[in-house]
Amino acid sequence: MISGKITLLEGDITQQQVDAIVNAANTSLLGGGGVDGAIHLAAGPELLVECRRLKGCKTGDAKITKGYNLPADWVIHTVGPVWHDGKYGEDEQLASCYRRCLAIAEQYEIRSIAFPAISTGVYGFPMERAAKIAVKQVMTFLFLENHSSLEAVMFVCFNRQTYDCYRSALKEILSN
Ligand code: APR
Repeated sequence: MISGKITLLEGDITQQQVDAIVNAANTSLLGGGGVDGAIHLAAGPELLVECRRLKGCKTGDAKITKGYNLPADWVIHTVGPVWHDGKYGEDEQLASCYRRCLAIAEQYEIRSIAFPAISTGVYGFPMERAAKIAVKQVMTFLFLENHSSLEAVMFVCFNRQTYDCYRSALKEILSN
């Protein structure tokens, strides 16, 4: 489904032909399971070598590396919040991940970027709530603020349930 500059698709983020893909990493930036593991596997060992030099990343922040063997030129690593009960600033931290990734993309004159559903796997953030935050932050950045380089944002959903949550979130925001 396409909504202007935003594309929604079901698939594997490591396969996407975009300028940058986003990694849902942890504060060490030294790899893990889920999408992080898949990205490191596909990018090859040089990614870990560059990540070691970054000396970690705070929750809600993001750092960029090259994409090595990935089709994407860049990987923007962000650290989503671990979900507790929503009373520990999780929403704001997740929103911050999206804003920081988009700001870095702008800084590097990246034209296309693909996001996974940050924090919704191992970190346990409820999918519906996370999708609304993701869509809101991307829409605000693309349409309400004055940014130039970014032409395409892709939400890569790993399964049908994720895709349906994003589709609902997009529909809801577009109807308001
Ligand atoms: N492409 C797209 N999405 C994927 C892929 C993939 N190849 N693999 C997993 N996902 C989806 C999951 O289905 C989930 O919806 O990415 C979302 C995020 O899940 P996780 O990868 O578990 O990330 P997160 O919840 O942010 O937890 C981060 O997991 O592996 C560790 O190092 C990582 O410690 C960190 C933690």
